[in-house]
Amino acid sequence: MAQNNPVRFESWRGGVAVIFARELSVRDYRNFASYTLELAEGVTILVGRNAVGKTNLVEALQLLTSGASFRRPAPAELVAEGETSCKLDLRLEGEGRVIDLGCAVREGKRSFSRNGKKCRAAGVRGVVPSVLFCPDDLDMIKRSARVRRSALDGFGVQLNEQYAQLLGAYERLVEQRNALLKERWCTREMLAAWNDSLAQTGASLLVHRVALLDRVRERFVEAYGRIAPGERVGISYESTVAPASPGAPGDAAPPAPDLPRAEQAAAWKVAFLAALDASFEDELRRGITLVGPHRDEIRFSIDGRDARTFASQGQQRSLVLAWKVAEVAVTRDILGHPPLLLLDDVMSELDAERREAFMRGIEDEVQTVITTTNLGYFSDAILNRAKVAPIGG
Ligand SMILES: Nc1ncnc2c1ncn2[C@@H]1O[C@H](COP(=O)(O)OP(=O)(O)OP(=O)(O)O)[C@@H](O)[C@H]1O
Ligand SMILES: [Mg+2]
Repeated sequence: MAQNNPVRFESWRGGVAVIFARELSVRDYRNFASYTLELAEGVTILVGRNAVGKTNLVEALQLLTSGASFRRPAPAELVAEGETSCKLDLRLEGEGRVIDLGCAVREGKRSFSRNGKKCRAAGVRGVVPSVLFCPDDLDMIKRSARVRRSALDGFGVQLNEQYAQLLGAYERLVEQRNALLKERWCTREMLAAWNDSLAQTGASLLVHRVALLDRVRERFVEAYGRIAPGERVGISYESTVAPASPGAPGDAAPPAPDLPRAEQAAAWKVAFLAALDASFEDELRRGITLVGPHRDEIRFSIDGRDARTFASQGQQRSLVLAWKVAEVAVTRDILGHPPLLLLDDVMSELDAERREAFMRGIEDEVQTVITTTNLGYFSDAILNRAKVAPIGG
């Protein structure tokens, strides 16, 4: 996958790259007038009372590494109250090189920069990818399918720029097609051209998604085995375009994963067009596109049963932990170096056993930033090797 991404590799090609985020500095950003945070190569623990700005710093790190924030703020929300602009900078170092990634908000608009040159989000995204784990993620298994799709897509877009472009293009097509479906004069014939573009782009997106999920699955099963040995877990991709267990006669089956990608894409496209054709009446009545990757499900299972309804609270948490460990492992598998791991306030949410299991799954060379209000959640083993940065005095 990574070969498709020239942005990512132009600076770091060759050998196992050791890339670290060294220094974050922010100006007029959220609750900070000016702040600089030096990061350790291993674990940095940000400790401080509630509302001192720990999550804000994690968000800044996520913005500068993934090009997006889990809070999805409007640009103006990033600017400290009473100010008109803000600036965030992250210095990365590795292989004797330095890369400065920047993000600024001016006149209500957000922009990014790389080594001082203005760029799109794609220019900063994934130079060092980040994996964020925050309390909201702990409900990922039982929330709506959108949350699980976003988890996979948010990961995929950092690893592969083509994935990001396909996702953006696909989402725009769905929006435009939905606008057309809402028009009274919309007919099957009018939709035909849209259907073709949607199926073409959606099919390529499906190939990327399914391939990424295949890689995640392998690491996820390993990680879960370490957290809760003896339970058989799975993740499957269930497409509205070609259900794995066809419900209606004529439903297509998903293409075999060992087919060449072009053939998989062609098969998805045929299935997608057929599914659009079959759902036309419903779509027209409801004014929305009812089939496609934007409606698909990523299903977690334990011992063959759907985890969304079957798994206990604790099992659901273990599934999420395993997913995050898998994201770290897959990043390393694909890019040759681990991501920046951001753990916002999750230690307090996990029992001691899961905390230990999780930290064991994260190896020493993963640069990690952890926020907490209480250092009591950490074992001496972690505290001895971590840099502790008090926030808010
Ligand atoms: N644009 C802004 N201007 C000024 N203050 C802001 C802005 N955006 C957020 N804040 C403030 O930043 C403060 C710190 O938020 P943050 O979520 O980072 O706290 P935290 O240290 O993670 O706390 P907790 O331990 O409760 O999670 C909040 O009180 C919030 O109101
Ligand atoms: Mg917080």
